[in-house]
Amino acid sequence: MTRSVFPTSLPVERPVDGVKRFHIWTIGCQMNEAESAKAAALLRQAGYVSALREEDADIVIVNTCVVRQQAEEKAAGHIGALARLKQRNPNVRIAVTGCMVTGQEEKLSARFPHVDLFYGPSEFERLVEIAPELRDVDFDLAELPHYYDEGTSDPEVTAFVPIIYGCNFVCSYCIVPYRRGRERSRPMADIVAEVERLAARGVREITLLGQTVNAYGHDLPGQPDLADLLAAVHEVDGIERIRFLTSHPKYFSDKLIAAIRDLPKVCEHVNLPVQSGDNEVLRRMRRNYTVEYYRERIAKIREMIPDVTLSTDIIVGFPGETEEQFQHTYQLLEDIRFDKVHVAMYSPRPGTLSARWEDDVPRAEKRRRHQAIEKLQEQICRERNERYRGQVVEVLVDGMARGRWRGRTRGNTLVFFESPDSWKGKLVHVRITQVSPWYLLGELIEPQTSHGGVQQYVAVSR
Ligand code: SAH
Ligand code: SF4
Ligand code: F3S
Repeated sequence: MTRSVFPTSLPVERPVDGVKRFHIWTIGCQMNEAESAKAAALLRQAGYVSALREEDADIVIVNTCVVRQQAEEKAAGHIGALARLKQRNPNVRIAVTGCMVTGQEEKLSARFPHVDLFYGPSEFERLVEIAPELRDVDFDLAELPHYYDEGTSDPEVTAFVPIIYGCNFVCSYCIVPYRRGRERSRPMADIVAEVERLAARGVREITLLGQTVNAYGHDLPGQPDLADLLAAVHEVDGIERIRFLTSHPKYFSDKLIAAIRDLPKVCEHVNLPVQSGDNEVLRRMRRNYTVEYYRERIAKIREMIPDVTLSTDIIVGFPGETEEQFQHTYQLLEDIRFDKVHVAMYSPRPGTLSARWEDDVPRAEKRRRHQAIEKLQEQICRERNERYRGQVVEVLVDGMARGRWRGRTRGNTLVFFESPDSWKGKLVHVRITQVSPWYLLGELIEPQTSHGGVQQYVAVSR
């Protein structure tokens, strides 16, 4: 899982006298986004409303990430800056959560004495300590993102649903297992019930989440797997699309590929981090597979789902990575031609195995490798997106951005189009007129059924 975002989509409500307000700042992966959404849902249920600015909030939550040093520094900088807010307004309650907190509470409270509460990932019950109103809230029923755009009553179109917490792998560079613990799957019935409630709220697309999402179920009675869960969630009326993140190559079974192929709501998009294209580096990363194994899995996925889109994660500048080993990664990306690649420069994380090895690839060299991959990938994305030109794609519209409607194809490619009408939450058809490496532009068309019952598409001009 790789995406750092947030306050962007945090909606705002007008202040009402006597009503308490909260603000949540989030960095890190989609699991963090999901947990921030849950904290927001809980606080709303306890009568709080959201505030756009931290200065206007009674409760400020900072949700942190430590996957790379840069993320950790950003979060620490943000927490540090809140000392001034606390000075001006001693009544504000400040909470810090996320992966920075696990096992570090003592150290952190000495470093940031202005913080009222440190709570680990998913420890929502502890919010009661700063929001006593939460005592009356049913924590199980409040697991819904409950976000509304400013000034409208439109619910969110897409939602994240955690299905498995933690990670049982111990990749040598990765801090996640130390901060998120061992794998714990949620019971299938709980997940399905949550998805049903989301659908009733108007959510159209769900993304099932886990650090190793396809390890789902091995710890549950009867050992259901991700394919079984996809089939169960597929039954929920109102849900139009299902995605899942992040898969580990080791568990990407033929059964799972068949489920993606056979379940119409499951999008033909696979995010399968490879990390390196060199066997020696993979061995030292403790990834548990070889490049040949990975290539075989990709070949199988493409054979069974010909129109699949693929994305991956890469780390450059791992300790000891030679130019030749880097070239193997470059070659792999040239061969596979992913639709999206998240590339990160190696960052030693305290407590991990590789942090004991010399971080011997110089920063400038890491940057060069990073840029080489970005450049290659830009070219590949540009070429791959060309196939959409003139084509009609199905888009789930999730909102507006700079005056245009925005949505994604089933393959997860961003699409923008213009229309004076309201399309949020709708599945529409768009004919692609312009192509870039990062998104597509097109014009809205509406389906018409011809005499033979075959769908044709006509451009809508209003
Ligand atoms: N569970 C997922 C990814 C979890 S972390 C997997 O197995 O791939 C998200 C991404 O951060 C990883 O894919 C990796 O590319 C990157 N990452 C993790 N630790 C890192 C480190 N120490 N330095 C640089 N990038 C790192
Ligand atoms: Fe980290 Fe590896 Fe687990 Fe992914 S599979 S979260 S990279 S330890
Ligand atoms: Fe996610 Fe960052 Fe933790 S990527 S699991 S929030 S270290």
